[in-house]
Amino acid sequence: PASLRVGIAGLGTVGAGTVSLLRANAALIEARAGRPVVVTAISARDRSRDRGIALDGLRWHDDPLALANDRDVDVVVELIGGAEGPARRLVEHALGNGRPVVTANKALIAVHGATLAASAERAGVALAFEAAVAGGIPVIKALREGLAADRLLRIGGILNGTCNYILTAMRESGRGFDEVLQEAQALGYAEADPSTDVDGIDAAHKLAILAALAFGRPVDFSSVHVEGIRSIGALDIGFANELGYRIKLLGIARHTERGVETRVHPCLVPIAAPIAQVDGVFNAVVAEGEFVGRLMLEGRGAGAGPTATAVVADLIDIARGSLVPAWGASSGALSALVSVPMSER
Ligand code: HSE
Repeated sequence: PASLRVGIAGLGTVGAGTVSLLRANAALIEARAGRPVVVTAISARDRSRDRGIALDGLRWHDDPLALANDRDVDVVVELIGGAEGPARRLVEHALGNGRPVVTANKALIAVHGATLAASAERAGVALAFEAAVAGGIPVIKALREGLAADRLLRIGGILNGTCNYILTAMRESGRGFDEVLQEAQALGYAEADPSTDVDGIDAAHKLAILAALAFGRPVDFSSVHVEGIRSIGALDIGFANELGYRIKLLGIARHTERGVETRVHPCLVPIAAPIAQVDGVFNAVVAEGEFVGRLMLEGRGAGAGPTATAVVADLIDIARGSLVPAWGASSGALSALVSVPMSER
């Protein structure tokens, strides 16, 4: 069968990780996808940077939008980032051209997901974003498939690896905020602008996506209450410890009588609680449903390898044709973003 030809926009940590994973596991991926999945074209700002991967033989576009028109590209992988600008234009353009899109861009999906999902549905192609939430934890698939039968009451957890890494390292080593943040940046965990991480915005993007999926309705991103970890000092962490607590940056979305409540802020968590044990770059997604009860998924929330597994899982779905645009035939414009509207659950 014909290969699925992939065009990647953005060759940072995740882009390079995706190219490496597709190569390292090519045979296994081909077997599971039913056909080869190969990168044919790329677009990134800096042609000369050494990314530790060979890029010969790939078509290089200076303008990412060109990927959406390249005849040798069947699916566009958007790893540029940002809710607006080139990332948004590329995704709109690709969907408009009838090309499926895989993205790790939580800002874009949190802010424009419903509109983009409607375009995907009109075009009859997939818009897939497993990598946008909690890196290597397959939480989007868990919500759409594994929990498809239940009505969720609560979803959230530790959604930013950089903040969890910083809080953990400050506690364990007594080092200062800035030093630990630099380490998280060097490990490829932090966003291009790390204030997005430490001010809670990245966690809020992921929470908004989870809440939209879990509760089957769009979440207005500007309505999410957001507080980061800048004000947390060594003293706070020390006192919390003495009192039997860990400080964790949590995202919490609840379905209430008055609608969906969404907030991100530092929380005191009793040391014995499972989520208090989730340290370092690890994320944890906690969900509670009427029938399933409480569950927690834990895994690496950032970094090249974990995030690339999510991107490539979406590519395998698209290669197999198992990622269909409409998740529940007549659920309307949001169907690619939400599983089933709240009213029908
Ligand atoms: N900067 C993000 C984090 C990367 O630290 O969790 C994954 O979205």
